[in-house]
Amino acid sequence: MRKKLIAGNWKMNNDVEESLKLIKSLLTSELNEDVDVLICPAFTSLYPVIHELKNSSIKVGAQNMHFEDKGAFTGEVSPSMLKSLGVEYVIIGHSERRQHFGETDKIINKKIKACLKHGLKPILCVGESLEQREAGIEKETVRAQLIKDLDGVTDGLKIVVAYEPIWAIGTGKTATSHQANEMSSYIRAVLADIFTVDIADNILIQYGGSVKASNAKEIMEQSHIDGALVGGASLIADEFIKIINY
Ligand code: PGA
Repeated sequence: MRKKLIAGNWKMNNDVEESLKLIKSLLTSELNEDVDVLICPAFTSLYPVIHELKNSSIKVGAQNMHFEDKGAFTGEVSPSMLKSLGVEYVIIGHSERRQHFGETDKIINKKIKACLKHGLKPILCVGESLEQREAGIEKETVRAQLIKDLDGVTDGLKIVVAYEPIWAIGTGKTATSHQANEMSSYIRAVLADIFTVDIADNILIQYGGSVKASNAKEIMEQSHIDGALVGGASLIADEFIKIINY
C-alpha cells in the first residue's frame, strides 16, 4: 500500500520568521493522518523548521544539494550537511534547476546517487515542456529523463518520483487528472523496466503543477498518483491544509 506524500516546495520564499509562522499554522491544525506531510523550505530555514517540528510527524526536505561530500564548491551544500540537520528528503532535478541552473541528467544522476549514499530520499522531478507535449513526445521525454537520471541506481524503493509537466508549474494550468494519471501510469511502467514490477508498484509518484485546494481531491484520487508536490499553494497555510485534508 502506497501512503500518499504531500510536499510543500516553498522555493525561494519565506525568511525564518515567515517559515516559522507557516509551520505554526500547520502544527495547530488537524491534518489528514492518511497522508505523510513534507515541507521543503529554503536552506536558511531548514534548521529552525526542523527544530520546530521535532515532536511532530511532519517531515522536512531540502530543495537541492551538491553531489560531492565536501570540498571547494563555494555556495554549495553537501548531502552530509543536510543529513546532519535531520533532513529526510531532497528534491532533485526540479525543472527550475534544469532550466535556470543548467542541471543536466548527468548531474541529476550524481545527485540521486549521493542522496542514496547518505540515506536521504530523493524526490526526482521529471516532466515535459509545452512544446514537447504539443509535438506528442511527452512520454519519450519523460522516459529518457528517468533512464538517464536513474542510471546505475539500484535502490528503487528509496526514491520518489514527481511528475511535473513544465507547462503546469506556476501557471495556474493544471494537467487534467486523466493526463496526470496516464503519465504516472507510464512512469510506473518505465520504473518497472528500470527496477522490477514489484519495486515499481511500491514507488511513490507525485503530481506537481498548480495543485490547489480546488483540484487536489480529483488529482489525489487517481490510481497511479500517490501525492503532490505543491509550490505556490503551499505558501498559504489555509490552502495547503485543505490540500492535505483533501
Ligand atoms: P506550483 O509549483 O504548484 O506553484 O505550480 C509546483 C512545483 O514547482 O513543484
